Amino acid sequence: MKDTFYITTPIYYPNDVPHIGHAYDAVAADVVARYHRLRGDRVIHLTGVDEHGLKLQRAAEAAGKDPQTWVDEMDPRWREVWARLDIAYDHYIRTTEERHARAVQKILQDVYDNGRDDIYLGTYEGWYCVACEAYYTQDELLEGNLCPLHERPVERMSEENYFFRLSAYSDRLLDHYNRNPKAVQPEVRRNEVLSTIWAGLQDFSISRTSFRWGVPLPWDPAHICYVWFDALTNYITAAGYASDPEMFARVWPADIHLIGKDILRFHAIYWPAMLMAAGVEPPLQVWAHGWLLVGGEKMSKTKATGIHPFTLLDHFGVDAYRYYFMREIQFGQDGSFSWESMVERSNADLANGLGNLASRVLAMLGSYFDGLVPDAPLAEEASDLPALADGVARRYDAAMLELGLTSGLATVWELVGRANQYLVEKQPWALAKEPGNQDRLGSILYAAAETLRILAVLISPIMPGAAARLWEQLGIPEPLVAQRVPSATRWGLLEPGTKTRKGDALFPRLDE
Ligand code: MSP
Repeated sequence: MKDTFYITTPIYYPNDVPHIGHAYDAVAADVVARYHRLRGDRVIHLTGVDEHGLKLQRAAEAAGKDPQTWVDEMDPRWREVWARLDIAYDHYIRTTEERHARAVQKILQDVYDNGRDDIYLGTYEGWYCVACEAYYTQDELLEGNLCPLHERPVERMSEENYFFRLSAYSDRLLDHYNRNPKAVQPEVRRNEVLSTIWAGLQDFSISRTSFRWGVPLPWDPAHICYVWFDALTNYITAAGYASDPEMFARVWPADIHLIGKDILRFHAIYWPAMLMAAGVEPPLQVWAHGWLLVGGEKMSKTKATGIHPFTLLDHFGVDAYRYYFMREIQFGQDGSFSWESMVERSNADLANGLGNLASRVLAMLGSYFDGLVPDAPLAEEASDLPALADGVARRYDAAMLELGLTSGLATVWELVGRANQYLVEKQPWALAKEPGNQDRLGSILYAAAETLRILAVLISPIMPGAAARLWEQLGIPEPLVAQRVPSATRWGLLEPGTKTRKGDALFPRLDE
């Protein structure tokens, strides 16, 4: 029985090192996975690298290496980025692993043997873009025979290939999407998928004979498997499809394949049809986010607009990095990265917003109460904070479950803003100067510190590092990672007498 929340990222082509476009969906998937862990779900977050295909073989050749050596050298270059981005994946897959070859051969054989002739031999001649690893028809190309995505010349290819009978799956796909209106999100992507199916689906070739860098077809090893057929299968390899039926039953179907919109048709058309042909359930949801743009165009290595994540991490740190991309670019839409807006967000929302709130509250607890969380005898002094915190936690939950990451964060920052404003209204620093205000002062600082505790829980999926530092400064003995929502966001859990400690600023203030 399925009991695991299973979220995947695309597997990345390690023909080069990552840029911030790749890191964008890696971070988003990590935020969603961490949020589900916070809710107490059993979670598997899968990521990895897509190591086969012509593009990889050519990258290796250009470097004067054999493909295996090349991918072995590149793999750590990706993992080091995920490590610095605090990406806590549970499973990592490389498509050159033996277990993956077994799964690819199993799904191929299962489809081959399904009795419907879904795989057949034919000849293909067409235009191929190596960067996309996909064929295009003449009318899809730009003027001068350029790939519509990469704007680079396509190549004429002609081969005897095995084909997958995608055309036979239109009705089943339509039926699947009609019965599951959330199976492709956001809505605009769902409509795109439906129109593609309505326009008519063509069979696609699933094997190659012109080069060797791939998984051989089990019934005809002179052919290797087409890289997309191979790559998509990673999602079931890691779930135990060919190795662990018990795990597979707990994990599959995947809850969310998080992808960029450029690879939608592979995930929302090819993949469910492949699974149907093999007698496996399609994923529950494909969620396609937008692009990071530079100068109005998709950031890419081919166009030399790719920025390596380390460039930003060195300057902004991991917390601001994760926060910025999820907050600044409406999740689901395209958006532009800019250095200026990142400085602006870091300073306004983090250093001056949450950071300032934490440092003021912790400093006052230190000065007026020896760092000990005071009693709060006057409940009314908390004003609207308890109700707001409760409302924010609920709205945040609803947003996060729908991958409304940007609006979810905006919701949390309503509480940050209100808490800062609350302090300005209540003026605890003025109260502290006059005698006889201990009860009021204590009640106000309790409310502010309790708000910080709740904020630490809420931001932990987004900024695990900053949340942990804040938690530590609050001095709460139970570990942050043991907190669960909704119970941990209930008002009043912070124990009076807890020894807080004002540490370093949570977020540095950056020069404009
Ligand atoms: N290997 C395939 C995916 C196979 S999944 C079974 C692939 N790899 S990729 O490295 O080219 O892209 C991986 C992911 O990075 C895709 O989701 C893609 O949308 C994302 N991005 C690459 N550049 C991007 C931007 N400029 N902006 C946002 N995401 C982008 O495709």
